[in-house]
Amino acid sequence: MTKGNSALKVLFVTTELAPFSKVGGLGDVAGSLPKALRQAGVDVRVVTPAWPGVLEKVASEGLKTTTLKTKVFAAYDWRIHSATVIKADVKGVPTYFLKAEDYSGAQYPAQLNFWSASPFAVFCMQALELKEAIEWEPDMYHCHDWTSAFLPCALAWHRHYRQVGGKSIMTLHNVAYQGIFEPSPFLEASGLEPWSFSSSTMEFYGQVNLLKGGIVAATAVTTVSPTYAGEIQTYESTRELSGILYQQRSKLRGILNGLDTKYWDSEKDKLIPARFSSKDLKGKTSCRKALLERAGFDTETDAPVIVGVSRLVEQKGFDMVLAGIQGILKMGAKLIILGSGQDWIENGLSQAEAENPGSIKFFKGYDEPLSHLLYAGGDIFLMPSVFEPCGLSQMISMRYGTVPVAREVGGLRDTVFDVDRPEGGNGFTFQTCDTDGMLWALGRAIGRYRDDKNAWKNIMLEGMSEDFTWDKSALLYRDLYQDLMQ
Ligand code: ADP
Ligand code: GLC
Repeated sequence: MTKGNSALKVLFVTTELAPFSKVGGLGDVAGSLPKALRQAGVDVRVVTPAWPGVLEKVASEGLKTTTLKTKVFAAYDWRIHSATVIKADVKGVPTYFLKAEDYSGAQYPAQLNFWSASPFAVFCMQALELKEAIEWEPDMYHCHDWTSAFLPCALAWHRHYRQVGGKSIMTLHNVAYQGIFEPSPFLEASGLEPWSFSSSTMEFYGQVNLLKGGIVAATAVTTVSPTYAGEIQTYESTRELSGILYQQRSKLRGILNGLDTKYWDSEKDKLIPARFSSKDLKGKTSCRKALLERAGFDTETDAPVIVGVSRLVEQKGFDMVLAGIQGILKMGAKLIILGSGQDWIENGLSQAEAENPGSIKFFKGYDEPLSHLLYAGGDIFLMPSVFEPCGLSQMISMRYGTVPVAREVGGLRDTVFDVDRPEGGNGFTFQTCDTDGMLWALGRAIGRYRDDKNAWKNIMLEGMSEDFTWDKSALLYRDLYQDLMQ
C-alpha cells in the first residue's frame, strides 16, 4: 500500500461513529472499517463532530484525549466558525473530535432547512482545514451519506476550496436520505459558486440536494452492497435520483459491508449472560432463557422466538410486521422487538403487546446491551425490509446463531441465502414485499424449527460460519484508493 514509500493517507469524514454517536449501521461502519483499513496498510484517520454526550462517552471508554493547540476554522454565513480539535486513539485509529457550538444541537435534525443543515456544511469545511492543525495531509477524503456530502461539493464548487483541490469518495449508506432544503440563503452563505446550483449538479426540483451534489462532485462513489449498487440506478428504487446515479455509474462500486467481528462475538461478548460458540451452543440456551425472562414470558416455552432490532421506519417493513401479527401468533411464535422511530410503528407495536401479553414484547428505545441479548437469545431474526442498502443486523444475528428471515433486497440478497435452494443456505428469504410473502418465509422457518431440530442446528451453524469480517471488503476499498492515485 504505498505511494512512493509512504502509506496512502485517507481521512474518514463522518457524522456518526460507533460507539460514541451511533444511530444505525453507518456508525458501525465508520467505527470498524478504518481499523480494518489500517491493518491493510492504509493510513486512515477519522474526523467527526463531538455531538452532545460524545466526549463523555470517549471518557467513559477510558480513552486518553489530547486537545490540540491549533483550532480549525470555516468561513460560512459571513462569519468564522471555529472548533477545538480533540484527538484520541480509538483502537489504533487516530480520531479527531471537533467540539464547537455548531455541534450542540441534534445529530439528525427533525426538519431540514438552511439553519439545521448548516452544521454539516461547517463540519465539512473544518474537515478540509484539519490538515494544518494535525500536520498531516490526506491524499483523499472518504465521505459518508448526505451529512458529509458537502465536502466533495466544496472541492468542486467552493470559491476557495476548488482552488485547493483534492480527491473525494462518497459512500452511499442510504440514498433515501439526501439532505434536501431550500437554496436561499444557503447558496450565498456557503461560498459555493452560483453555477453549482444547476440540474446537472446540486439542484433538485428547485431545492438543494446535498447528496446529489456529492455524487456528481466526488471522484468516486461507492455503496454498501453490490445488489444495492444496481438497484439505486432504477427509478423503482431511488425515483428522481436514479437518473443521476445511472449517469454516474462508471464511478460507482458496490462494496459489501463487514462487521467488527471482535465486538460482535458470541464467544467473548460480555453484554450477554452466557457465551457460546458453534462447537458448544449451551450458552445460547441460557441467553434465550434470559431474554424470555426479560420479556416477561414463560422461560420454559419451546415456541420459536422471533426477534427484531431496528430503527422503526418504513424502510424496515414494519407495516408487514404489524399486519402479520395474527399470522405470527397463529403459528405459535413469540415476537420480541427492540427499536425506536416513527410513532405509528411504536404505537402499533405497543398495542400488539398490550393485546397479546406473554407472546409479544416491544422494548421501545435504543439500547445497545439489550440488543446483544436479542441477537443472542432469539431463534429467528426478522428483517422484512422494503429496501436495504446492506443491513448489518442480519449478519450480527447469524454470528449469534439466530437464523434470519429476510426479504431478498439490497444487501440482504447478498448475505442471506435461502436454505431451500439446491445448494442450501443460511436463512429463509422471500421476494414479494407483502405480509403474505413474509408469513410464507416465516412459516417455512418455524416448520423447520419445530420439525427438524437437526436441520435447524445446521442452519444456525451455517450462519455462524459465514465470514462477515472486513477482510475482503477492506481490500476492495484499498484497491479503489490506489486506483484514484493513478
Ligand atoms: P440501519 O443502518 O439501516 O439502521 P443496519 O442493519 O445496517 O441498519 O444497522 C443497524 C445497527 O443499529 C445495528 O448495529 C443494530 O444492532 C443497531 N440498532 C438499531 N436499532 C437499535 C436499537 N433500538 N437499540 C440498539 N441497537 C440498535
Ligand atoms: C444504512 C442502511 C443499512 C446499512 C448501513 C451501513 O443505514 O440503511 O442498510 O447497513 O447504512 O452501511
